[in-house]
Amino acid sequence: MKVCIIGLGYIGLPTAAMFASAGASVIGVDRNPNIIEALGRGEILIEEEGLSDMISRAVSEGRLRGSMTPEKADAFIIAVHTPITAVKKADMTYVAEAAEDIVPYLRAGNTVILESTSPVGTVDSLMLPILERSGLAAGKDFYLGHSPERVIPGSILKELVNNSRIAGGINKESAKRIADIYRLFVQGEIYTTDTRTAELCKAAENTFRDVNIAFANELAVICENLGVDVWEAIELCNKHPRVNIHQPGPGVGGHCIAVDPWFIVEKQPDTANIINLCRNTNDSMPAHVASEIRAILAGVPDPVVCVLGLTYKPNVGDMRESPILHLISILKAQGIAVRAFDPYVKDEADICETLEEAAAGSDLILLGVHHDQFKNLPFERLGPLMRRRSFYDTRNFIPAADAEAAGFNCYLLGGK
Ligand SMILES: NC(=O)c1ccc[n+]([C@@H]2O[C@H](COP(=O)([O-])OP(=O)(O)OC[C@H]3O[C@@H](n4cnc5c(N)ncnc54)[C@H](O)[C@@H]3O)[C@@H](O)[C@H]2O)c1
Repeated sequence: MKVCIIGLGYIGLPTAAMFASAGASVIGVDRNPNIIEALGRGEILIEEEGLSDMISRAVSEGRLRGSMTPEKADAFIIAVHTPITAVKKADMTYVAEAAEDIVPYLRAGNTVILESTSPVGTVDSLMLPILERSGLAAGKDFYLGHSPERVIPGSILKELVNNSRIAGGINKESAKRIADIYRLFVQGEIYTTDTRTAELCKAAENTFRDVNIAFANELAVICENLGVDVWEAIELCNKHPRVNIHQPGPGVGGHCIAVDPWFIVEKQPDTANIINLCRNTNDSMPAHVASEIRAILAGVPDPVVCVLGLTYKPNVGDMRESPILHLISILKAQGIAVRAFDPYVKDEADICETLEEAAAGSDLILLGVHHDQFKNLPFERLGPLMRRRSFYDTRNFIPAADAEAAGFNCYLLGGK
């Protein structure tokens, strides 16, 4: 089988590697020439556990090849990005352009699969009319549907194989063919359905998580006001056999949970009330943390905050939609200088190269991301480099006693 994958990012590249290692002949297409050039050398520009080896093997064995344009294939998989615009609407330009790019190469018997997370109706209202410009009838001459991706960065290769997946087709035959294609490497269950259900499921899964995190974040602020430690309260609540409250934090980032709920709000603005409110609750957390920091540093002339961790989650270098970046902009806009350090983020402007460099001359250390490397912060060494010794933990990651022993005043998001 020949598979043409359009969009070689965090999803498209691992998917290409999987199909190639399962014996398919794979053409990987991307508009970014740097990605295609690197692929030509058997290299990748992103970090994902095990991916580099798998790609270089697939390329050297001739099972994977990069190209700037699609080619004829048995199956076309679209894995381009689906961001939101400034007004929180899905930007479907990339999906539409990828579908247009396929048209000249589409042949009878082919299957076209959208993997990108997309608002309900994308396959039947946006992609189908574009693809039928080929003169072929969808569902009859070629097969079409949506199979969303549920993998987590850091474990993508394992999850691609082991997770269950949904194969939504514009008709039963399309769903069946999509399931058959993924069975080449997927060991989890593959559930067939229609495209609109598949589209809704993916957005709803991430919305479920966003709503639950918003509840935890709201509880954190409530607890601060009521003099209760939210972390202890959540731990005790979760002893209840049917309660599982999520963890609060400085906001929600990444290109999925912070984005996908808007796809539902966009389609049903008058009905998606809870979803809208929760999204805004999570988006308000950086401003909440900033106001706490302002209060702690009130009266300090020319305050400086050392921010540790910039990514949207721990132990990765991905900063997309990171709430810590929003927090930093708010702090700076309020006249608080920021010195930032993240062991996973290199070569960015305005980022210190070491922990010590970031702490030097600052008035407060703010832990933004709970990278493993921050577990044992050397407070004894950092304290003397600072102007004042305050420590604010947004993740309940470091025991206050560790910092207090080095003379720090400690503060906790959602703390008493
Ligand atoms: N990254 C994840 O963990 C994850 C998980 C589940 C779902 N998703 C979804 O998968 C989709 C892809 O996400 P990603 O993280 O891989 O995005 P990404 O930004 O890493 O990669 C997208 C790639 O598509 C390329 N591209 C855009 N338009 C193109 C076109 N017309 N032709 C060729 N290439 C084109 C871009 O150059 C880019 O390299 C998104 O809808 C995302 O929401 C991502």
